[in-house]
Amino acid sequence: MDKILIHGGRPLAGSIKVSGSKNSSLPILAATLLTREPCVVHGVPDLSDTHYMLQILIHLGAQVERASGTVTVSADNIGSVAPYNVVRKMRASICVLGPLLGRCKEATVSLPGGCVIGDRPIDLHLKGFEALGAAVRVEGGNVKVFAPKLTGAIINLRGKFGPTVLGTDNVMMAAVLADGVTVIEGAAQEPEVVDLANFLNKMGARIEGAGTRRIIIEGVSALHGTEHDVIPDRIEAGTFLVAGAICGKGITVKRVEPEHVRSTTNALASCGFPISIADHAISISPNGEAKALELTTEPYPGFPSDMQAQMCALLSTTDGISVVTENIFPQRYMHVAELKRMGAEMQLEGATAVIQGVDRLFGAPVMASDLRASAALVLAGLKADGITEVSRVYHIDRGYERLDEKLSELGAHIERVKET
Ligand code: EPZ
Repeated sequence: MDKILIHGGRPLAGSIKVSGSKNSSLPILAATLLTREPCVVHGVPDLSDTHYMLQILIHLGAQVERASGTVTVSADNIGSVAPYNVVRKMRASICVLGPLLGRCKEATVSLPGGCVIGDRPIDLHLKGFEALGAAVRVEGGNVKVFAPKLTGAIINLRGKFGPTVLGTDNVMMAAVLADGVTVIEGAAQEPEVVDLANFLNKMGARIEGAGTRRIIIEGVSALHGTEHDVIPDRIEAGTFLVAGAICGKGITVKRVEPEHVRSTTNALASCGFPISIADHAISISPNGEAKALELTTEPYPGFPSDMQAQMCALLSTTDGISVVTENIFPQRYMHVAELKRMGAEMQLEGATAVIQGVDRLFGAPVMASDLRASAALVLAGLKADGITEVSRVYHIDRGYERLDEKLSELGAHIERVKET
């Protein structure tokens, strides 16, 4: 296992280019199962999560070729069983259920484990499949779905924590080949859902309303192959903007859709960081008098849960008392204990973190836990006095393409070493 050493205090400058979106690539790669014809997907980031998804497609019988960021999938003859040994490494594997049900009218996928950010139920996914006419059985750690035929239905996918992103994706992918019209009420509006809908429509699907709470899918008899460019990763973009706020002297994030990071740029501007937005580039400048913030995570277009840990790292050295409330995954605070080991002053009150900004953080050995908490520790290390040693960086490699190298390109003194 590798670890990352960050020698703090080096101001960042320059620009970085954002990779393709992990959370768009995963469902789009799963959607290639919906046709026998080859699909070509450009801009797939080189991550362990995308690697795991390709392994699942290969296990199911698809032909997969990868040439740097371009992946070609031919799912001519496929099976419908994704067992534990291929699924266990990534919870998002659950998004092969929908396309397998749509294409094969049956699927068996190992249940996703929970994870450190909290329980990860799939009740809304299964509710959607049942509404389309599928029978659902959960047994032996697997979820089995099967249907003699799928029939369009009106489905409300809003849960007690709001819409479900992968649930919306899964039901959409099952409905595209159903008989008749499906209406998803309470749909997730994330840009990654829109990207998937655009990909499916290029395959011949008939989907309207993606990006709103109400998606309408008119079932078709078959889908064909297509070519697609994945949208930029808005969470990677937001992570680098926070890096520029924590210890930058002016950095620019390129290849970004500004609208997709609007809630993050608004939050940073509210702290007092000057932000300038061009067509596909966003620049952030330092501000010694940045001020505290009250922040609540919400479904898109609200402030994303996936940026909460990174903002906690920034607010830990922002003067004043900040209050961060996590509405999507109330337990998503694995970063708090580690940030406190670096000198941060923050207290958890249920799903709320109360953060008293401090003047300095101190480098320390810390442990990565989940993807975004790990990124937060790296960001804090950039600011801290001394050396921060982040272990178990495989968590970071799941969702960030060359994070340490990109930060080095901005001037950070950061090195990856093999953990002895
Ligand atoms: C997606 O996960 C993202 N992952 C997550 O990003 C992101 O944090 C999350 O959406 C919220 O934006 C991918 O896209 C691969 P949800 P997903 O279903 O779809 C509850 C990252 O760091 N819920 O939108 O699994 C659930 O417990 C990852 O890149 C149910 O109750 O999340 C949560 O509280 C982490 N029943 C809320 O809804 C269900 O059937 C939102 O979850 C499904 C979800």
